[in-house]
Amino acid sequence: MRSALLNVMVQAARKAARRLQRDFGEVENLQVSMKGPADFVSNADRQAEDTLREELSRARPGYGFVLEERGEIKGTDPNHRWIIDPLDGTTNFLHGIPHFAISIGLQRDDMIVAGLIYNPVSDEMFTAERGRGAFLNDRRLRVAARRDLSQAVIACGIPHNGRGDHGQFREELARVQAKAAGIRRLGAAALDLAYVAAGRFDGFWERGLKPWDVAAGLLIIREAGGVVSDIDGREPLLTGNIVAANEPIHAELSRELKAAARRA
Ligand code: IPD
Ligand code: CA
Ligand code: CA
Repeated sequence: MRSALLNVMVQAARKAARRLQRDFGEVENLQVSMKGPADFVSNADRQAEDTLREELSRARPGYGFVLEERGEIKGTDPNHRWIIDPLDGTTNFLHGIPHFAISIGLQRDDMIVAGLIYNPVSDEMFTAERGRGAFLNDRRLRVAARRDLSQAVIACGIPHNGRGDHGQFREELARVQAKAAGIRRLGAAALDLAYVAAGRFDGFWERGLKPWDVAAGLLIIREAGGVVSDIDGREPLLTGNIVAANEPIHAELSRELKAAARRA
C-alpha cells in the first residue's frame, strides 16, 4: 500500500510520462529532418515539467519548486519544495536510446523525505519515503551485497565537452578501472542512482550533478540500505559530487577517488 503522498507523486509522474513517451516515439522520425530533434526534445522536456508542476500543485497547493527548466518557484509553505528533473537522460532521449527518467524529490526543511524515479519505457517506478524503505514497483529494494571492488560493477558519469574537469575524471577512471570488475556509463544519473538502490550497480560516482539529478536518488539509495556522500566529505545535495554504494564498496570507492584527486 502506497501512502497518499507517494500516490500523488506516482500519478503526476505517470501523467507526464505518457506525454514523454509519445514524444520519444516521434524522435526517430525527426532524426532525418534538417533542424534535427533538439528543439522538439527541449519542448517535450518543458511540457513534462509543466505537467508535473500542475499535478503536484493541485495536490499540495502551497509547496514550492526547484525545476530544472524553469528554476525556483517559491511556495506559500516555506517548509516544503519539490525538486524535479522532468527528463533525466536528455541525450539518450534525443538519440532514440530508451534509457531516461522523470525524477521527483520532496524536500522538507533540509531533508529529502520522498523520492520517485520513473523510467516510462521499462515502466520501472523506483520510490522511497524516509523511514519506510525503497521500492521498485511493489518490490522492496536492497543494495547489492558484494563487498569487494574487484567483483563490483561501477557506474559513472563522464563530463562532456565544455563541462567538468576532464583530467580529473581520467585519473578517477584509471584508478577505478584498475580495481573494479566492470564500468558502465548509461547516461541518466537518476537511473544510475536507482540502479544502485536496486543492486544492479554496486556503486556509482559522478561530479557536477545538480540537485534535481540526485534529490530522489539519494533517499532511494539510503532507504535501500546504501550510503551516499560527497566525494570530498561535504553535503552531496549541495555539491553534486556523488559517490554511492553499499558500505564496504563505498569506503573502497571513496578511497580510490580521493587518491585520484590527489594526483590530478
Ligand atoms: C544529465 C544526465 C547525465 C549526467 C549529466 C546530467 P540531463 O542530465 O543525468 O547522466 O552525466 O551530468 O546533466 O541533462 O539529461 O537532465
Ligand atoms: Ca538531469
Ligand atoms: Ca533534464
